[in-house]
Amino acid sequence: MYGVVLAAGRGSRMRPLTDRRPKPLLPVGDRSLLERVFDTARDVVDEFVVVVGYRGDAIRDGVGESYRDRPVHYVEQTEARGTAHAVAQAAPVVDDDFLVLNGDVVVDASLPRALADAEGTAVAATEVPDPRAYGVISTAEDGSLAAIVEKPADPPTTLANVGCYAFEPDVFEYIDRTPESERGEYEITTTIELLLADDRRVDVASYAGTWLDVGRPWELLAANELALAGLDDGVENAGTVEEGVHLDGPVVVEEGARLQSGAYVEGPALIREDAVIGPNAYVRGSTVVGPGANVGHSVEVKNSVLMADASVGHLSYVGDSVLGRGVNFGAGTNVANLRHDDATVRLRVKGESVDTGRRKLGAIVGDDAKTGINTSLNAGVKLGAGETTGPGEVLTRDRLSE
Ligand code: TTP
Repeated sequence: MYGVVLAAGRGSRMRPLTDRRPKPLLPVGDRSLLERVFDTARDVVDEFVVVVGYRGDAIRDGVGESYRDRPVHYVEQTEARGTAHAVAQAAPVVDDDFLVLNGDVVVDASLPRALADAEGTAVAATEVPDPRAYGVISTAEDGSLAAIVEKPADPPTTLANVGCYAFEPDVFEYIDRTPESERGEYEITTTIELLLADDRRVDVASYAGTWLDVGRPWELLAANELALAGLDDGVENAGTVEEGVHLDGPVVVEEGARLQSGAYVEGPALIREDAVIGPNAYVRGSTVVGPGANVGHSVEVKNSVLMADASVGHLSYVGDSVLGRGVNFGAGTNVANLRHDDATVRLRVKGESVDTGRRKLGAIVGDDAKTGINTSLNAGVKLGAGETTGPGEVLTRDRLSE
């Protein structure tokens, strides 16, 4: 069976973290989102086909021609014109039954398994408390799919469409006949309507595991929290831990990483290869210190993701934040992660203020951004890729130009 992974989107809601990389290459724990998708599907998929578009070369170069013994093919969608249009690009490669998975979703291995076990065509469905924001699935008497209704005000069931499917190769004929939707995209759910109209049976594969769409910056934090919650208890150390370091598991220290005296780490924490912590630093609560990253003297990092080569050198506080690759925080940079009124933190997504639902959320910082000394970053603020702040600046609004 093939696994077609959709990875062509711009990832605009994830900006600025996707300004210099495609969303599926964002790190979740010790792997990229895309590699996690591969891992969950490896049991049932023999070959992967990745539909690339925005910054597709980075995906080809980053993943290569195979992943853990599974061949990986690439097809290109030059314009993101919808999920059916994306799947259509895989037609020249796929000549057998296949799964469709999104390259930006965190699920567990029981989802691809349920789809693969279903008869022929299938949609994955999961119970949600309030399905009004989703495609809602209704079933026929025999349990097969009756309809998918997008974001209904009065949902017929509490079953949401997860957005992962199993298809047979003749679906490409239906995709060819799929009309544009109202929002101007070729959508795979419209293709499924055509199958149903042709009296084709579509199974509903029920899924009860984790389901997290990683579309917005705080969802990347949530995905990392989930990944770290899966770490084994205790300390796994393949690096160097100096005398006078305190480690409260679960903590993983990868090869080449160095924890210097006075570092105090409360897990779950993942200290990736060649990272340096300390001397005298405090790392706590679901933190990933990326490859080659640096958490220096008198720095506290809490519940955050520092991507590769990010550096918080001295006298700074970083909480509930995401720092992109190569970010450099000047001494005394402090991130606010809590509002005085205790309300949930809002973040601007594509120009609109969105409630993240998180009481604690700090800053979202794009690759290679630099802060001047004594910069203050307000809760929920974004600093774009390559942007800078001056000494003593107080950033209360997003600074994005790329
Ligand atoms: P979305 O999350 O809807 O789109 P996106 O990833 O571009 O993000 P944004 O809306 O923030 O710009 O897409 C869901 C998945 O489908 C995602 O993995 C990207 C993929 N996709 C394609 O590969 N091609 C397409 O034409 C579309 C619409 C989505």
